Amino acid sequence: MKTQEAIRVRMLDLKREYEHMKDDIDSAIAQCMMHQTWILGPEVRELEDRMCGYLGSGNCVGLSSGTEALVVGLRALAINSRGEEYFRKTDEIITTAFTFTATGDAILRAGATPVFIDIDPRTFNIDTNKLRQYLKTAAHKAVGIVPVHLYGCPCHMDAIMELAAEHGLFVLEDVAQALGGAWRGRKLGTIGTAGAFSFFPSKNLGGFGDGGMLCTDDRQIAEISRMLLKHGGKDKYNVEHIGYNARLDTLQAAVLTAKLSRLDEFNDNRMGVAASYTAQLSGIDGLELPSIPEHAAHVFHQYTISVPEGRRDELQKHLADRGVSTMVYYPVPLHKMKVFHGRYKTLGMLDESEIAAKQVLSLPMDPLLTQDEIDYVADAVKEFFRA
Ligand SMILES: Cc1ncc(COP(=O)(O)O)c(C=O)c1O
Repeated sequence: MKTQEAIRVRMLDLKREYEHMKDDIDSAIAQCMMHQTWILGPEVRELEDRMCGYLGSGNCVGLSSGTEALVVGLRALAINSRGEEYFRKTDEIITTAFTFTATGDAILRAGATPVFIDIDPRTFNIDTNKLRQYLKTAAHKAVGIVPVHLYGCPCHMDAIMELAAEHGLFVLEDVAQALGGAWRGRKLGTIGTAGAFSFFPSKNLGGFGDGGMLCTDDRQIAEISRMLLKHGGKDKYNVEHIGYNARLDTLQAAVLTAKLSRLDEFNDNRMGVAASYTAQLSGIDGLELPSIPEHAAHVFHQYTISVPEGRRDELQKHLADRGVSTMVYYPVPLHKMKVFHGRYKTLGMLDESEIAAKQVLSLPMDPLLTQDEIDYVADAVKEFFRA
């Protein structure tokens, strides 16, 4: 275990970020202290309104986490389309196995069966050719797709929306890692039926604790979601649905609203960091760098490289020895986790997801990373491949 001093470059330095916008954040928090409306205070609606404007979405609903945004979104879709509280086990919702647990878990919690389609190794996102292939199988019972814009990289939304329209499927975008990203100029989360965002502290827009949001142009889905997040009713004693306590906290909304003004600037910085890594690391034999698909604005939640031939862990150790923090997102694909055993379907093997779990490594990615820090990381990676 490295001491704090021995770390030269962190994955993300939240303290530095706070110091960068301390005045705005402190005054937003002070405002809450004055009114003391901690549950669904005015800051929650303000953030929802600001997010509607930012995204170009008709409705934004604050929630207690990205996970709850996915669950509430799916439950609202079930209630809206089926008139039933949950999906049926025979209802299939398609996603990938190479994502954070919450994506697949939300599908189970909404009552449906996840179908894991393999990823495209260039983007780590759903392989839309395999998705098309699955939807051609006569026996499929798909009702929806949950595409995950992993690492901030947009999925191929043309293909996804075309297939969804052809097969009458809803699309709930998992935008946990991609707030601010766009496909053909449209903000991610607003292309499908709904989008679920996370404000986990390390996300592109992160709070001082958990938080999330659902955006949708469908007023019915927004209204049902608003009920579900506060115990299932329009008010406390008029409860219609099986609900949750999944409200976005006032204090988090205040912090997030203060930080939202800097989101585009920070996302631009992330793209700059990524461009600098790519310029310095391209051409190294055996190292694959992130690619930016055509039509995509990639917001680099992570800068994730792929290190074949079983050398990933060696590289991670080499970097740790030089004080560079790195992370593996994700070492275990969902179909290998006990919770999904016997509860998922798939189209053939998930080879690319399994290979990615063994090869990916995320380098430090922070909108305030200095050029010296970027160069230090890149030099340390280059040194490993020279040896
Ligand atoms: C792809 C993905 N989906 C869902 C989530 C869940 O978000 P949260 O941690 O806010 O519940 C996360 C974040 O951790 C995520 O990365």
